[in-house]
Amino acid sequence: MARYRTAIIACGTIARVHARAWQGVPGNPVELGALADTHPDARREFGEFFGIPEDKRYADFRQMLDTEKPDFVDVCSWHQQHAEMVIAAAARRPKAILCQKPMAVDLGEADAMLTACERNGVKLVIAYQRPHHAAWLAARELIRKGAIGKVLQVQMDDGGNLLNTNSHNIRLALFLLDEPPAEWVIGAVERTTDGVERGLPAEDACLGLVGLGNGATILIQGNLVSGLGQGCRVIGSDGIMEFDTRHPPDDQIPSDAPMYMPEGPSARYNTEIGTVRYIGRDTNGWVSVEAPWYDAWAHQCQEAVDWVEGRITQPISRGERGRAVQEIMMALYESARKKQRVYLPLKTKVNPLRLMVEDGDLPVEWPGTYERRARIVRGEAMSWHTPGSP
Ligand SMILES: NC(=O)c1ccc[n+]([C@@H]2O[C@H](COP(=O)([O-])OP(=O)(O)OC[C@H]3O[C@@H](n4cnc5c(N)ncnc54)[C@H](O)[C@@H]3O)[C@@H](O)[C@H]2O)c1
Repeated sequence: MARYRTAIIACGTIARVHARAWQGVPGNPVELGALADTHPDARREFGEFFGIPEDKRYADFRQMLDTEKPDFVDVCSWHQQHAEMVIAAAARRPKAILCQKPMAVDLGEADAMLTACERNGVKLVIAYQRPHHAAWLAARELIRKGAIGKVLQVQMDDGGNLLNTNSHNIRLALFLLDEPPAEWVIGAVERTTDGVERGLPAEDACLGLVGLGNGATILIQGNLVSGLGQGCRVIGSDGIMEFDTRHPPDDQIPSDAPMYMPEGPSARYNTEIGTVRYIGRDTNGWVSVEAPWYDAWAHQCQEAVDWVEGRITQPISRGERGRAVQEIMMALYESARKKQRVYLPLKTKVNPLRLMVEDGDLPVEWPGTYERRARIVRGEAMSWHTPGSP
């Protein structure tokens, strides 16, 4: 019997992943209580698929929060809506809020979200789910025990833009190194086309180096080379460890049908497998790190419940850790804008990439705005942030 109800705001792809995650927490402590989405098809499809009654489906998320008074709130909307929705949810004082990554579009918003949660006594989780992978947690233990010696650098190379994809890998690097403070960032961005990602100006490519308080560095290669993608390479004084992800074939995982799914089944996320291999002074070649698999998202939800019930105080994905990722990303952009190394804490509260675009400091070579994620939008809209959006 569920002790809590969660209310999901924005019922697109990732909301389905959250719904399965709650359903996957042992003992089912949290039931799917209500949903809000501006699009009627999203409300109907998601509601029918996950068994949320019609009178619990809302077009206006504030009305849902006021009427349902949920224990948990899941913010599953696009980046530009995270801050507004988290702050609105926090004002209604649920026990905890799970908000999708990236935490916000700039550092000012991230700070406002933390302030709103703190002043209302609300716990905030930022859903960078991958550190919850079983094998990745086991690998962190090996790093702690010195399996690859002293960590010198974590390298990442995802092909997407910084906020959308390498944000995951920055979070992974900080997790693997036990959350060291970042001291400085130096970075460069290339933006020759007028691409936006979920309505926000995005770079075509970026390069960054982050200096950490423990002496290690993080090397961010954004859309420059292909390699591990969602994962990273950890270079130690006595070895190397590589993190990667894969998932079973689509015909072996739950389908979203009959829900709208232009990018395929969302359960790829729930069934994702985090893999690790390493080579160290004491190994005879590469060794795989093995751990019994579970859904990383369900583990994240379990930790939210454990946090609310006082069993843990430092969940892997607590809000401040999402903010640390946000600060590094914004510092990389600020370094590109100021053409110098940026020392943290970062004082700039706006998004420096957006500022450079607005100020004409990054003139595009090939004009014409396009939305990188347009294929997941419904109807006539090309972005949830343009006229014609529902
Ligand atoms: N952690 C991960 O691995 C991961 C993976 C994919 C997406 N995400 C994140 O999830 C977020 C959502 O992405 P998505 O791919 O699920 O988007 P999506 O386009 O599939 O869904 C967005 C939904 O928001 C709804 N919406 C728009 N405006 C709204 C409003 N004002 N009130 C309520 N609903 C509204 C839309 O109708 C749509 O149903 C993004 O921030 C993205 O970064 C995270």
